[in-house]
Amino acid sequence: MKFGGTSVATLPRWQNIRELVASRRAEGARVLVVVSALTGITDALKQLCGEGEQDKRKAAAGAIAQRHYDLLEHMQLALPDTLGSRLSDLAGLAANGPAPRGELAWQAQVQAHGELMSSALGAAFLSHSGLPTQWLDARECLAAVALPNQNERTRLLSAMVEAKPDPALNARLAALGEVFITQGFIAREQHGRTVLLGRGGSDTSAAYFGALLKAQRVEIWTDVAGMFTANPRQVPGARLLQRLDYEEAQEIASTGAKVLHPRCLSPLRDPRVPLLIKDTNRPELDGTVIGPEVRAHAPSVKAISARKGITLVSMESVGMWQQVGFLADVFAQFKQHGLSVDLIGSAETNVTVSLDPTENLLDSDAIAALASDLAKVCRVKVIAPCAAITLVGRGMRSLLHTLSGVLAEFGQLRVHLITQSSNNLNLTFVVDEEVVDKLLPHLHDLLIAAGALRTDESALFGPSWQALYGGGEAPDAAPAWWRGPQRQRLLELAAEATPRYVYHLPTVRQQARELKSLAAVDRLHYAVKANTHPAILATLAAEGFAFECVSPGELEAVAAIVPESVPLLFTPNFAPRRDYVSALATRATVTLDAMYPLERWGELFRGHEIVLRVDLGRGLGHHEKVRTGGSGSKFGLPLDQLSTFLQLADAHGVTVRGLHAHLGSGVLDAAHWGEVYAQLSSLAERIGSVAFLNIGGGLGVPSHPGEVRLDVAELDRVLREVKAAYPHYQLWMEPGRYLVADAGVLLARATQQKGKGAFRYLGIDTGMNSLIRPALYDAWHEIINLSRLDEPATALYQVVGPICESGDVLGTDRRLPEAQEDDVILIAQAGAYGKVMSSHYNLRDEADEVVIDA
Ligand code: LLP
Repeated sequence: MKFGGTSVATLPRWQNIRELVASRRAEGARVLVVVSALTGITDALKQLCGEGEQDKRKAAAGAIAQRHYDLLEHMQLALPDTLGSRLSDLAGLAANGPAPRGELAWQAQVQAHGELMSSALGAAFLSHSGLPTQWLDARECLAAVALPNQNERTRLLSAMVEAKPDPALNARLAALGEVFITQGFIAREQHGRTVLLGRGGSDTSAAYFGALLKAQRVEIWTDVAGMFTANPRQVPGARLLQRLDYEEAQEIASTGAKVLHPRCLSPLRDPRVPLLIKDTNRPELDGTVIGPEVRAHAPSVKAISARKGITLVSMESVGMWQQVGFLADVFAQFKQHGLSVDLIGSAETNVTVSLDPTENLLDSDAIAALASDLAKVCRVKVIAPCAAITLVGRGMRSLLHTLSGVLAEFGQLRVHLITQSSNNLNLTFVVDEEVVDKLLPHLHDLLIAAGALRTDESALFGPSWQALYGGGEAPDAAPAWWRGPQRQRLLELAAEATPRYVYHLPTVRQQARELKSLAAVDRLHYAVKANTHPAILATLAAEGFAFECVSPGELEAVAAIVPESVPLLFTPNFAPRRDYVSALATRATVTLDAMYPLERWGELFRGHEIVLRVDLGRGLGHHEKVRTGGSGSKFGLPLDQLSTFLQLADAHGVTVRGLHAHLGSGVLDAAHWGEVYAQLSSLAERIGSVAFLNIGGGLGVPSHPGEVRLDVAELDRVLREVKAAYPHYQLWMEPGRYLVADAGVLLARATQQKGKGAFRYLGIDTGMNSLIRPALYDAWHEIINLSRLDEPATALYQVVGPICESGDVLGTDRRLPEAQEDDVILIAQAGAYGKVMSSHYNLRDEADEVVIDA
């Protein structure tokens, strides 16, 4: 059990250690405690080493001793001999200075006292509080090895130990007692001198001891419950990683996670000793277990990390194409300057490498000296400051197809270098440093949304940092309606017929009421394309919604259900002339999003007030195919055509009464609508005739476990802020998905199963003909075996339909109970863009629709 500096600095912390050690004793384990120096002491000792004057060194040693006396007094302990002799040794070292041993050996000897003192103090405290504890000198056990490229400094201050299981040590300790305490950070070299283990030294000591003793496990006790899928300071939604294998953990530690030093995993690998990271303040949390076992689970990205302060050096060959020895020449310069290269990208005439500040002393002098030497063999360009963003996960290459959203994001940035590690564990992008803080949370969301970070694997991904430390998740984590009393009803409905869509009207109302709380919005329209079921239209009409339609068919469907007084919008795209003719004959307000209708059919619109849909130049949404802005999308009038459009409108006696923009679907970031609203407002100021602004729909619902819900209160705040600046425009919205997605499920039945290669396929009696979203957008719908809701999910299935298409897959790698023929399979969140996008393909039975309202 290893405890760091803050964990050993106060009496309550030592009481805590006592409890934890006692609990391990109660499990029947023998315990070796490895401690760091009291917090701040190592720095104080380093400062002492930097003092030239004897008096100052003595004073520093005195202050350090006092810290330990104070803690002893708190513990109400007399000075134990072990600590007394350490303190007098330190006083002697301070008084004598480096002379007799040599500077570096003296420094090592002085700094080792931090751990020697804290462990002596700890042994006294634990023994005194009823847990007889033996003090062990780590230097007796850990022998530093001499390595070929070491100089005196690294040999003494950054030493390495080769730790192989040592049964003799085990036997020796077994004869001595049950509980031991020893020092982190220190060892002894072949000539008997004390050496230090360098950065992360105490964790590394714990790992060395774990290997020597072939321990049951190594526990690293720290101030956080383990490793997370991202740095929680940047991404509060980052999830606790509950299990990792050594290589993955090492990769995450090396690419940014600070909780564990990457060096401390390799000693444990051969003897297969697992390592646990645990939170000292929250010992009940499971923490992260790092071990040898590569569990059978779906491949997944495990973490996204970022390292800042990266310097890129790009080197262009000035000689011939594919010049032999070019790489050897340039790398020789790095060796000469003592700089360790991290990432490498190469072309015929260029090689670009990165230098990581955690491995190098990267001051501008070092870089300038390197660049000037490199200039003798090539053309050099230094690019800094950069950041390296790394995706980590075993089998990264098999995950590439899930990364399209992430790649699209990088596509909008200046990416200097992309590398893929040869061990297939990581994929790294080097970008400008300034973009990282904003980008990381977004990428983390994208990875979850794309199913690349498999947060549904609950054995791997634990709670979010926010849930553990940030005052809990958003409060509305209510279970889905179909899990409760409605489950029986659904089983009965499935017994009558499958496939079948079932819609739960109370959920529609609940969503509608939530949006009605948006104080800044003057009129809410339901985008009926999401679901045109008459009962849903009637329910939303009763909730006071207006309606947005995109075709004469939708206008008719709405007109048949909702009262005459309810306002309608008609927002078509590339519609034929006849659609405008028929829509203009209704009460619907017509939206134009191109010049053509005015240019060619201008007379149709004479005397009408219309809405103009503009393209704000960017799109947003859960998948590239649902982004409706930017030059790659067919929607909206580009802003450079705005004045011509306005002149045309004028010429035809048409008034632009509204402005509209809808950038895409499935957006979870509230800020987005504030930006659109502000942009439309300032455009409206230029136009003059505008009375209302329609900022579209696109409000997303989280589909993956752990995805963060759209914060409606925040949306309200954002919109009110813009409204305060532009109170003279009415604000309209037109959400579809948000109102109906969670209200609908698709019920199907299991048909057949098949094992093929590494996969198990579970067939159900409908597929992409009923729900095309997974095939079309890689959309993730939760899939449940409703017949076996309470059984353990032990099988890993590819859930497929009966359609003759390879794309007929409803869900990949789903953890479900072992299924039987005819089990009822529920596909969740199918209320939006489900039935309305279904087809007759293969002439399979179409799903019917049932509504429940209680
Ligand atoms: N307004 C306009 C102009 C739209 O084009 C859409 C959706 C909406 C509002 C409503 O967007 P919502 O709030 O439902 O996100 N089939 C895709 C979504 C396509 C949305 C098309 N337009 C899907 O299943 O994800």
